[in-house]
Amino acid sequence: MNEFKRVIVVTGTPGVGKTTVSQILGSKLNATHIDLTKLVKEEALTSGVDKIRGTLIADMEKVSERMQKLIEDCKRDIVVDGHYAVNVLPAKDIHFVFVLRRNPEELREAMKNRGFKGRKLWENLAAEVLDVCLWNAVRACGSEKVCEIDTSGKKIEEVVEEIVSVLEGKRKLSIGIVDWLGRLEREGRLNDFLKDF
Ligand SMILES: Nc1ncnc2c1ncn2[C@@H]1O[C@H](COP(=O)(O)OP(=O)(O)O)[C@@H](O)[C@H]1O
Ligand SMILES: [Mg+2]
Repeated sequence: MNEFKRVIVVTGTPGVGKTTVSQILGSKLNATHIDLTKLVKEEALTSGVDKIRGTLIADMEKVSERMQKLIEDCKRDIVVDGHYAVNVLPAKDIHFVFVLRRNPEELREAMKNRGFKGRKLWENLAAEVLDVCLWNAVRACGSEKVCEIDTSGKKIEEVVEEIVSVLEGKRKLSIGIVDWLGRLEREGRLNDFLKDF
């Protein structure tokens, strides 16, 4: 049995591909995959409904307690997927944080396909452009555990392979690899993505 179990967080803006990537990564590593969105729904770890965004509000304390128990009881590596995963796990328990990035054009399409619109769409797009998940991960865990992966134009399997290479030490952890804000600004398209409403 694996004596040393790793807790691997996969975070990123909604629609970036966390769950799809984490499922494949989980089976490749023979690890347990925990999708926080699913866990919160299935176990009703909620504190109410966000009427403006049409989503459930996760009860961070309940999720945190449940996650700590799941990690304690788990005998193998764990892949935790969720954009607030770094806020419900103690930093000391986290070994790696992969922040999936997707260019704003692709992300907007992925979000629209999932039925995101209005405020939910623009808020999440702005979060991607402004590196919110990266900042959150670095703030919670320190930059040495964080690695960004640009998924733009890549197949899901390629993204998984990149993560595996980092885990195997064949590729360095790196942050600061994308600059959506700078690119959109240079192209004069910032207002298409940072809407005020
Ligand atoms: N690298 C990729 N290339 C193309 N489509 C992708 C990629 N990763 C994810 N997708 C698609 O994008 C959508 C959102 O993926 P999902 O894993 O649910 O995102 P998240 O869990 O981050 O919200 C899904 O329809 C998925 O099939
Ligand atoms: Mg998901």
